[in-house]
Parts: sequence; C-alpha cells; structure tokens
Amino acid sequence: ENCKEKKIEDYVRSIPDFPEEGIIFRDVTSILQDADGFALAVDSMQKLLEDTDIDVIVGTESRGFIFGAPIAYNLHKPLVLVRKKGKLPCETIEQSYELEYGSAVVEMHRDSIQPGQKVAIVDDLIATGGTIEAAAHMVEELGGEVVKIVFLMELAGLKGRERLEKYEVASVIRYEGK
Ligand code: PRP
Ligand code: MG
Repeated sequence: ENCKEKKIEDYVRSIPDFPEEGIIFRDVTSILQDADGFALAVDSMQKLLEDTDIDVIVGTESRGFIFGAPIAYNLHKPLVLVRKKGKLPCETIEQSYELEYGSAVVEMHRDSIQPGQKVAIVDDLIATGGTIEAAAHMVEELGGEVVKIVFLMELAGLKGRERLEKYEVASVIRYEGK
C-alpha cells in the first residue's frame, strides 16, 4: 500500500507531440476516468474559490462545463454557460477570439448575468488565455464583475496569464512549457 497521497499531477496523462510536434498534450480524460482524480480536481479548484464572494459560476464549452457544474452545485450557485456560436436559443451576445489557425465565436444568453453580479469563471486549462478572455469580455458586457478565474491546469509557457493580467487568476497545477 502506497501511503503517499496522490496529487492531481499523478492523474494527468501527458502525450508528447500531440496535436503537433513540440506540444505536450495534458489530457483531462485521465483525471476524469479516475473517481479519486475527478474528486480531487473539483475539490482543488473549489478550494481556490473559498475566500471569494461569488454570485455566479461561468463555465466555457466544453471542458469548462465538466468542472463548472460540480462547483456550482457544491456552492449552490447558478451555472452560466459560455457556448460555441449557434447553440443558445434565446437572445445572445457574442465574442470572437483568435485560435492558432483562424478564429472562433462564443456566445452567452443576454439574461444570464445581472449587472453587478460577482462572477467566477472556470475552465480546465489556460493555454493562450484567448478562450477565457472572450468569456470575461462577455461577462463584463453584461455588467458582471469577474472576481476570479480558476483553471485546473496552466501551460505557463504560453503566457496566458499576461493576457488576463487585469484579473485574479489561479490554477491548481502549472506546467512550465507549452
Ligand atoms: C481548450 C481548453 C480551454 C482552451 C485553452 O478548449 O479546454 O478551454 O482550449 O486554450 P486557450 O487558453 O488558448 O484559449 P477547446 O477550445 O479545445 O475546446 P473544448 O473545451 O470543447 O475541448
Ligand atoms: Mg475548452
């Protein structure tokens, strides 16, 4: 029996040269496939929010939903979805953001955040920070205040934190590379 408690790092499968050479892919599925790993991930992210006064949790499609949902449930807060364009049925606002090749558009329902609400945004990973920057802009457009942004994993080499420097950002684990 191994008495040493497992850390989140122990559940992350790292795939070299995926999706392209020089990139180490940090696989979230290997965490989720282990009940202890998933619980530890949710608990660790939630712990980073424990001293923050929050009205709403925002999760970004699709991996942000995986963590946003249990955190919102545990904290008994509303969960608001940032979705890829064309999925939300009512009146929306949208924001485009740059990807490595081309760009993407995400949306939120216009009635999902009330002016003055304190919002925590959660996602599995920060790479360039583009996804969450787009989400934060929409929250602000709706009058919300982004009080904290929490990631499970951070790829520090891509400097996403610099892009989000006006926000309070925290991550459970940090990888120095890309
Ligand atoms: C991944 C990941 C983050 C984002 C990080 O999502 O889940 O949301 O990329 O990259 P960035 O910091 O450069 O924006 P992806 O767009 O691959 O979609 P998914 O969550 O649906 O898998
Ligand atoms: Mg994502």
